[in-house]
Amino acid sequence: MDVAQTIAQVRGAVAVARKKGSVIGLVPTMGALHQGHVSLIKAARADCGYVVVSIFVNPTQFGPGEDFDRYPRPIDQDLEVCRHEGVDLVFAPTIEEMYGEGTLTWVQVDRLTDTLCGRFRPGHFRGVTTVCTKLFNIVQPDRAYFGQKDAQQAVVIQRMVADLNMPLEIVVCPTIREPDGLAASSRNQYLTSDQRSQAPILYKALRRGQEVIEAGLRDPAKVVQQIRHVLDQAPDIRVQYISIVDPQTLEPVDRIVGKVLIAAAVYLGQTRLIDNILLDLDR
Ligand code: PAJ
Repeated sequence: MDVAQTIAQVRGAVAVARKKGSVIGLVPTMGALHQGHVSLIKAARADCGYVVVSIFVNPTQFGPGEDFDRYPRPIDQDLEVCRHEGVDLVFAPTIEEMYGEGTLTWVQVDRLTDTLCGRFRPGHFRGVTTVCTKLFNIVQPDRAYFGQKDAQQAVVIQRMVADLNMPLEIVVCPTIREPDGLAASSRNQYLTSDQRSQAPILYKALRRGQEVIEAGLRDPAKVVQQIRHVLDQAPDIRVQYISIVDPQTLEPVDRIVGKVLIAAAVYLGQTRLIDNILLDLDR
């Protein structure tokens, strides 16, 4: 496995792989790799002749007061995970390599970034779309892999790629969960053991939403009420939002029909957790 810190090294290594005719797969990450990331790497490994994993804690997607400084950076462990999964190249640049003196150019997807997490994290998705554009330009992958765990991110990236005619395919992979249902996340390690024991209620609450919908409830406000009811049982959970939206436009739905995304963000202490369930009532 090669490890590159510079853009020039990445371009060189990928050029060799492309010359050999390999399909190039990219898995963008911020490191602190867990089973969710591993599932993306495995999907890329299954599809692509040459697999690149980027590990970069992207400063432009963190707001003031967010966890950029304390975000975990266990690089040796991450490299070991990548080696074990048969990754060909890890790109772990410095901030200087990615941004130099800073950037004057941003990629901004409108509207889709105003709702859900975007409402509470101004500038977050602009940072994500800008860094992903840079990574796509650096690696020039045929496919890039994203997780359904960050449903809004996946929708925003797909729209960006379509709107800007970027020549790659976005593959969205299912959410990987701990045995108790908690979605795997690098941020789970912030949780105290008491908070960790409360955390699975987020997914349980979303499942309750799914159940009442499957039992015939069609009024989103009533479904949200049911979800909130479950979350109220955990003493330390503070709800940021619970929304039932169209999975493509991310706009709240008036009535539950066809495909809907049930999405929520909560705080447990200082730690922000998100999760979602995608439902297709036509199936
Ligand atoms: P990060 O949070 O490290 O996540 C990297 C990728 O792993 C994302 O596509 C995310 O959706 C996916 N992922 C995280 N947890 C998952 C889980 N439990 N199951 C399945 N997939 C999961 O998302 C980012 O980094 C950044 O915003 C990035 C796209 C790298 C841009 O900086």
